[in-house]
Amino acid sequence: MNWTRRDLIKVGTSAAISQVLWLPGTIGCNSDKPLPKLQPSKLPLPEKFRVELPRLPVLKAFSTEGNEDRYALRATAANAKIIPGHDTTIWGYNGMFPGPTIEARRGRRVVLAIDNNLPVPIVNHLHGGRTPPSSDGYPTDLILPKQGWPSGHMHDRMASIAKGTREYVYPNDQRAATLWYHDHRMDFTGPQLWRGLAGFYILRDDEEARLPLPSGDAEIVLMICDRSFDADGSFLYPSTDASLARNPGVHHDYMGGVLGDVMLVNGAPWPRLQVANTRYRLRILNASNARNLELTLEPEPKEGPVLLQIGSDGGLLERAVAHRTLPVAPAERFDIIVDFSQYEIGDRITLKNKQVGDSAADIMRFEVVRQEKDDRSIPEKLSDFDRLDPHDAVATRLFDFSYGGMGQVWTINGKPFDPERMDARPKLGSTEVWKLRSDVRHPLHLHLAHFQVLSHAGRPRVSEAGWKDTISMFAGQTASILVKFEGYRGRYVFHCHNLEHEDMAMMGNFEVI
Ligand code: C2O
Ligand code: CU
Repeated sequence: MNWTRRDLIKVGTSAAISQVLWLPGTIGCNSDKPLPKLQPSKLPLPEKFRVELPRLPVLKAFSTEGNEDRYALRATAANAKIIPGHDTTIWGYNGMFPGPTIEARRGRRVVLAIDNNLPVPIVNHLHGGRTPPSSDGYPTDLILPKQGWPSGHMHDRMASIAKGTREYVYPNDQRAATLWYHDHRMDFTGPQLWRGLAGFYILRDDEEARLPLPSGDAEIVLMICDRSFDADGSFLYPSTDASLARNPGVHHDYMGGVLGDVMLVNGAPWPRLQVANTRYRLRILNASNARNLELTLEPEPKEGPVLLQIGSDGGLLERAVAHRTLPVAPAERFDIIVDFSQYEIGDRITLKNKQVGDSAADIMRFEVVRQEKDDRSIPEKLSDFDRLDPHDAVATRLFDFSYGGMGQVWTINGKPFDPERMDARPKLGSTEVWKLRSDVRHPLHLHLAHFQVLSHAGRPRVSEAGWKDTISMFAGQTASILVKFEGYRGRYVFHCHNLEHEDMAMMGNFEVI
């Protein structure tokens, strides 16, 4: 397919377009909709559980004066050893995939300077961050390549274009949580993340630090994502234009999302980690473009199948919630405790994805190799948590996420993304009810505003407790979320985090006024 942004905008503003809103009878009718599709690798898949889980390096601030930590990252191409015996060219922050982890402290500002040494524009977004609009990584607020970029070809008069480098300011005036930073270039986020532009951003605070949770070596970040590889070891992704310079999009078969057949954790294929027979805290991120996970341990722990969730997208829950299997959609984060004292020394435990039966069903392996004393505990009450009250909502809005509209793209209320169209104007400090409806599976994400799930095909799922910034919608579902617009006035996006849906126009704008 070969649409351009200009075509879409023409369609989007055409007077003929009618809003597709809550038409009864269309729920669940998804037979003609594109679904995520596997891009098979062209090399023999590596053996599982051979390489060690990479522990991700923490980025060092180059200045920590006053109340501010300053960091610098350079987006650049680099050579990585991902598949044994092969080289893979990645696009990474400081040449690494995943990028270095940024550790931030609530109340201390982070200033992050990003240089663009790649051949295409980039944008940086702190996912889950409550960030002023100028630093939020609006999809047209590009950082152009250092080496230059032809001018023109922009469809957003409000875009703020930086040449070669940009400084992002993150106030960190929010609860401790597992956040992540990643590319957000309009139309090209899918292929640019696939090549490696993503990293963790761990925000800590005093409330969390007071809890006796597993820490140090027993606190582990896990960035889980699927990828596919060409015969020569390079990443394989079905872009229409492999240079990512001009024409966005993927080959039509992949409109529904791109799946890979190699599961990477922290950038390594099906890695293994040796652990003690104690409790571990795992901060899990599904950084896949389009793959949904349903995590489970095999074998299950002796005393009951437990993945103990202590936190979600927006930080600690009020109380821990136990899961037998844990669904994790693209962009969602789950903070969980796994108690390896439930196993014997010598046991090997596989973290699995129950959603599939192919190579991607295995994710990584834990090997219990040593005896250790465990003086940690998981307190009954984890954090102070303000439950939002639906009676405080000052507005209700409806958003329908579906394939089609006037062109064959992904739309919100029948319209493809247009940076210059405002879809909602919530008031700063207010709470609103957003009613969401999805035709196929869509992990829906709001920038800036965190929310609580009020109802989701009936009651919220157990995994939807706490503050969220991404909600995993299944085919034909409706949900109501209570959104609190706190922080800053200005223009932000909300979108589907299936990155192929996002790139192919399933994005909208809201302006906090
Ligand atoms: Cu994780 Cu708009 O992004
Ligand atoms: Cu979607």
